[in-house]
Amino acid sequence: MLILDGKMTAATIRGELRGQAAALRARHGRAPGLVVILVGDNPASQIYVRNKERACEDVGIASRCIRLPADIPQAQLEDTILILNRDPDIDGILLQLPLPKGLDSQRCLELIDPSKDVDGFHPMNMGRLTLGLPCLRSCTPAGIMSLLARYDLNVAGKKVVVIGRSNIVGKPLALMLLQKNATVTICHSKTNDLRSEVSGADFVFAAVGIPKFVTADMVKPGAVVIDVGINRTERGLVGDCDFAGLQGVASAMTPVPGGVGPMTIAQLLVNTLDAYVEHVSGC
Ligand code: GUN
Repeated sequence: MLILDGKMTAATIRGELRGQAAALRARHGRAPGLVVILVGDNPASQIYVRNKERACEDVGIASRCIRLPADIPQAQLEDTILILNRDPDIDGILLQLPLPKGLDSQRCLELIDPSKDVDGFHPMNMGRLTLGLPCLRSCTPAGIMSLLARYDLNVAGKKVVVIGRSNIVGKPLALMLLQKNATVTICHSKTNDLRSEVSGADFVFAAVGIPKFVTADMVKPGAVVIDVGINRTERGLVGDCDFAGLQGVASAMTPVPGGVGPMTIAQLLVNTLDAYVEHVSGC
């Protein structure tokens, strides 16, 4: 079985971005700028944000984290976003989710200038994705598409099953696969016979958030399995798929950790550079 090495692929992409960022900075006189807004003290979010900051530094993107207290009023959080929208040195604004209880994340996401929406969560970017138009695309699904492309895995004409229908992963991933001419089925917690849907698939994408949810007996021999799960257990980080069991069945698979996760961060850097290019080309 081929292991789809996201860690190595992301490092390759970061190397390419480093050169592009340096050339762009020399030409336009400023580095690309990303701001991450972190509200409250969710421990998982703190780790994600630290990894994003490190990755930015590695490729020459100026990144800043705005830390706000969990009890910040909604209006003050909204004002913070509006100020960043007007800041000409900021190309990307990432509001780390989930927000603490009492804050309306959807309202905040819709306030972010779509040209700075490096998460691709704004309805303008999601709508453009649906229409097949150029846009900033959600990092995890776009990172997965980039990993498939780097390994020459072509979904055109293939039966693909996406398990999970979140706005962050499942829905945008299904749209990106459709754009690449896959025959897409989206499964979720209310799907009647998940097993029969998955067993016919050439590609299985698992984004359910349940450890070892996809097992060897569910998957067609030779299928490609992409594990989007990041489940923190007492035995460390585990995916949504039974990696060991699937080794004798799948033809290719992403590990956890070291699969989709690093590609998500690489895509955030790609999106920030794309947003920067858009902003400087308008100057
Ligand atoms: N929390 C978990 N994943 C993500 C993501 O992709 N973007 C943001 N903003 N928050 C997250």
